[in-house]
Amino acid sequence: MVTRTSICLDFDVRPLHSADLDDVLAIEQSSFPEPWTRGMFEAELQGNPFARFLGAFRAGAMPPAKPLLGYLCYWVVFEELRLMNLAVRQDCRRQGIANRLVRRAMEEGRTHGTTRALLEVRAGNRVGRLLYEALGFRPYGCRRSYYTNPNEDAILMQLSLTNTIHANDSFHDKGEVSC
Ligand SMILES: CC(C)(COP(=O)(O)OP(=O)(O)OC[C@H]1O[C@@H](n2cnc3c(N)ncnc32)[C@H](O)[C@@H]1OP(=O)(O)O)[C@@H](O)C(=O)NCCC(=O)NCCS
Repeated sequence: MVTRTSICLDFDVRPLHSADLDDVLAIEQSSFPEPWTRGMFEAELQGNPFARFLGAFRAGAMPPAKPLLGYLCYWVVFEELRLMNLAVRQDCRRQGIANRLVRRAMEEGRTHGTTRALLEVRAGNRVGRLLYEALGFRPYGCRRSYYTNPNEDAILMQLSLTNTIHANDSFHDKGEVSC
C-alpha cells in the first residue's frame, strides 16, 4: 500500500550529476527487480551524448542534507524523447513527483525539437502504466518476453509532443494492445 506523507510534498527538479549516483542507486535497487548497475548509470551520465538525467530533491534543505526523492533518465534522439528509467522513493510516491519529472522532460524535449515521446513498461507494472496513461501516453505495440526476472512482455507507449498535452493526446487512442 502506498502511504501519503508530507515530507516529500515540496520538491525542486534539477539535472543529476555523478555525485548523486549513490542516492540514485539506493532508489533504483529498491524499485526494480533488475536494477541498473552503477556502471550502467555512469555509462549514461558520462558516455551517452543523448542521455539526460533529472532529479527531484526535497525543497528547502541545504546540501548535503537535500535528499533525492526520485529521478528520470531520458534520451533526446533527434525528434524522439525516450523515457529510459524512472523511479521515486517508496515513501514519497503518489505525490506528483514522477508526473513532474516526466512533464519537465517533455518540456525540455520540445525545446530540443522532439515531436514524440516513447517508452517501454512491464506489462504487469500497473502503477507505471497508470502513470503514463494519466500523462496521455497510449499503448501502440508489444515486445514479447522483453523483460526477465520475471519474464514479462514490454508494452510500448507513445505520446505526441506537437500539441499541448491533454489526457487524450496520442497517435493511436487504443486502450489495449495484445502481444
Ligand atoms: C511508477 C512511479 C515512478 C510513480 O511515481 P509517483 O511519483 O508515485 O507518481 P505520481 O505521484 O506522479 O503519480 C501520477 C499519476 O500516476 C498514477 N498513479 C501513480 N501511482 C499510482 C498508484 N499507486 N495507484 C494508481 N495510480 C497511480 C495516478 O494517475 C497519479 O495521479 P493522481 O495521484 O493525481 O491520481 C513509482 O511508483 C515508482 O517508482 N515505481 C517503481 C519503479 C517503476 O515502476 N518505474 C516506472 C517504470 S516504467
